[in-house]
Amino acid sequence: MQYGVIILAAGKGTRMKSKLPKVLHPLGGRPMLAHLLDLAESLPATPLVIHGHASEQLQSIFGERDIVWVPQQQQLGTGHAVLQTLPQLDDDRLYFILVGDAPLLRRDSLLQLASAASDSGIAVLTVQPADPFGYGRIVRKQRQVVRIVEEKDASPEERRIEEINSGIFAVRGSLLKELLPQISNDNAQKEYYLTDIVALATAQGYAVAPLLISDADEVLGCNNKIQLAQLERIYQHRQAEKLMLAGATLADASRIDVRGQVSVGSDCTIDVNCVFIGRVVLGDNVCIDANCVIENSTIGNNSRIKANSVIENATVGRHVDVGPFARLRPQTCLADHTKVGNFVEIKNSSIAKRAKVNHLSYIGDASIGESVNVGAGTITCNYDGANKSSTIIGKGAFIGSNSALVAPLTIGEDATVAAGSTITADVADGVLVIARTRQVEITNWQRPQKK
Ligand code: UD1
Ligand code: MG
Repeated sequence: MQYGVIILAAGKGTRMKSKLPKVLHPLGGRPMLAHLLDLAESLPATPLVIHGHASEQLQSIFGERDIVWVPQQQQLGTGHAVLQTLPQLDDDRLYFILVGDAPLLRRDSLLQLASAASDSGIAVLTVQPADPFGYGRIVRKQRQVVRIVEEKDASPEERRIEEINSGIFAVRGSLLKELLPQISNDNAQKEYYLTDIVALATAQGYAVAPLLISDADEVLGCNNKIQLAQLERIYQHRQAEKLMLAGATLADASRIDVRGQVSVGSDCTIDVNCVFIGRVVLGDNVCIDANCVIENSTIGNNSRIKANSVIENATVGRHVDVGPFARLRPQTCLADHTKVGNFVEIKNSSIAKRAKVNHLSYIGDASIGESVNVGAGTITCNYDGANKSSTIIGKGAFIGSNSALVAPLTIGEDATVAAGSTITADVADGVLVIARTRQVEITNWQRPQKK
């Protein structure tokens, strides 16, 4: 069966109280709409996105993706919205109709909905939420779904129905073409309700197949920031479960945030309040302590990121210790068995095997050789106010504490820089360099007296 996906995203989302259109509000760090576009891609199907508000913004954000954009100038209801897609529809294709603000839907449920629709060509996804208030109710006669009634149009008896319309349908293209033009706006809200296709189909002899799924969370919609926060927690719990099923030990599954994709090797442990952004790869036996933020980075086997470290676009090798309180900025590359300690910032630099930068240093635009020891408080002065320059430190060199290394600069292999030096010229291999004023002792020094 060939699939199509229609995503209703023309609404403004007034109750979000935001300039950002509703479907662009982030879930797990990405716009809600992006999750539905991924779902469409996974089927696979090219999505038809119905847009009305902030169309330019939507199209520029998703410009790269394979989308058929369908404008709806005025928002006259969900039925009117889907009607706009009519010229694009293929008769034999099965279309999933999705609502742009319900991004937790699973592919499996859609495939089940497709098989439910295989006989009559129309199926509706339903749930029994804890509180059905506000939703369209599924009206059945002898277990057969006959129509959907909106909260505002429902009788008191109908309002007691617990099974609700998720807003998600699977309908054959030819049937949509037949039914959509028949929808009227004769109802409490004077809107063209998509839900009316159920009664219309029934009247024309098509049995609408209901698919009642047990996980009501999957179809939860988002109308305000409270619901957005609820969706986010459900989404994050799913991410935590994925990680645990992949073998990771989480100190607390409710205190982790994954805004992207994390892959884990065996026996990783992740302490509380860690945030993962973009694509993060953790090798085997990696330990991430509390309060770390890791973005688009790879951490090698047996490495440990200690508490409160922030890592962005960096590569960390095997058996590496980072932090606590370390900051690895983009293009940092730490080779195996290196150590980066507290209050160290590294940017665009490579640190070769067994080198150590243990305390309070800034390393920028540098290449640090094997087994180098960078003393506390060392600063690479890589910026002259206009240009960046690089620092090269040969293997085995020892940089004394509180040294300022003024780039461009090369320090030879096994060289020793005396503590407190300001190094402004290249240093040869194996030498000791001292670049500080000599200590002077003044005897019989009289301290100034208060006048
Ligand atoms: C709709 C259903 C209701 C269901 C509920 C599930 C109808 C008439 N009612 O109600 O049975 O229980 O969803 O969440 O369909 N939209 C457009 N163009 C429009 C109107 C809406 O694109 O002209 C979009 C909105 O942006 C939104 C979606 O359609 O993404 C649903 O519209 P909304 O107004 O939220 O419908 P509900 O009242 O929630
Ligand atoms: Mg809604």
